[in-house]
Amino acid sequence: MTGVEVSGNKIRKLEFCIAEAQRQGCDTLITCGGLQSNHCRATAIMGTRLGMKVHLILRGEEPELPTGNLLMDHLAGAEISYLPAEGWSTAHPQYAAQLQAEAERLGSRAYFIPTGASDEVGLWGYISASEEIAADLRAANLRPNAIVCATGSGGTQAGLIVGNELFNLADKIVAFNVSDDAKYFDERARLDIGRWQSRYADLLAGTAGADIDVATIQVNTQEGYLGPGYGVAGPEVFETIKQLASCEGIFLDPVYTGKAFHGMVSEIRKGDEGCFAGATDLVFIHTGGLFGVFPQQENFHFSD
Ligand SMILES: Cc1ncc(COP(=O)(O)O)c(C=O)c1O
Repeated sequence: MTGVEVSGNKIRKLEFCIAEAQRQGCDTLITCGGLQSNHCRATAIMGTRLGMKVHLILRGEEPELPTGNLLMDHLAGAEISYLPAEGWSTAHPQYAAQLQAEAERLGSRAYFIPTGASDEVGLWGYISASEEIAADLRAANLRPNAIVCATGSGGTQAGLIVGNELFNLADKIVAFNVSDDAKYFDERARLDIGRWQSRYADLLAGTAGADIDVATIQVNTQEGYLGPGYGVAGPEVFETIKQLASCEGIFLDPVYTGKAFHGMVSEIRKGDEGCFAGATDLVFIHTGGLFGVFPQQENFHFSD
């Protein structure tokens, strides 16, 4: 409900990250991600709307024809640099630091938002979303057994975990990983929440946020639905996307929400053997991603 172009979970995080950039007097946003990053697309468009320059660092080679999110990055006028997938994890922060130094030399100021805006600033996005969810659940008189989401850079999951500690939304937060594995997200959530507690220690002093014990919080990452890898889905995910679109008019994407939703339905079907054993109410967080459908349209089949 944030508009067509800037839809998705990244808006909730960017609300805080861009505010921090503005607080620091920055006129440029630098961020990074895959060629079809929803986060980069949202940053490109929000930056333009707010009169800020945007420089995207994308992982992989420049395609001949930009489609989906990448097309929108171009339309929104973002400057785009492509770095090879090999060596990406060390190369992209170095390149971002270089761009920041260059901006400084030219008398401007650039703020770097990490992948998916998943850091201690972006964490606020899904903490504040949790407050809204708590109000919605109260109004619906609902206490779900689980809140379910996709996890990629970890910030939505970590924010919901904190939100659940603060607002007691559900028995557990269950995240389906669309990259990496459960161990990665376990460490990542604890790290980001710990950093959030340190950075905002003054603000959190005396509140429940300060009492969250990162060593003992539950991080439930449900593996088994990553398929061939990040951004690549098996036919079952495309089938799930078709089914939900045709019976509810709700659209999922093959990179994030489609995999998580397919995982959720599969776990429900497992009954007592699945991670939702005994559950009667689940809340699925739809995190956006529609534009990721178009570059993969050849995977949908409509004739029987
Ligand atoms: C549509 C969509 N859903 C879910 C996610 C995963 O969220 P997070 O990166 O906070 O783990 C992303 C992240 O890129 C996304 O674009």
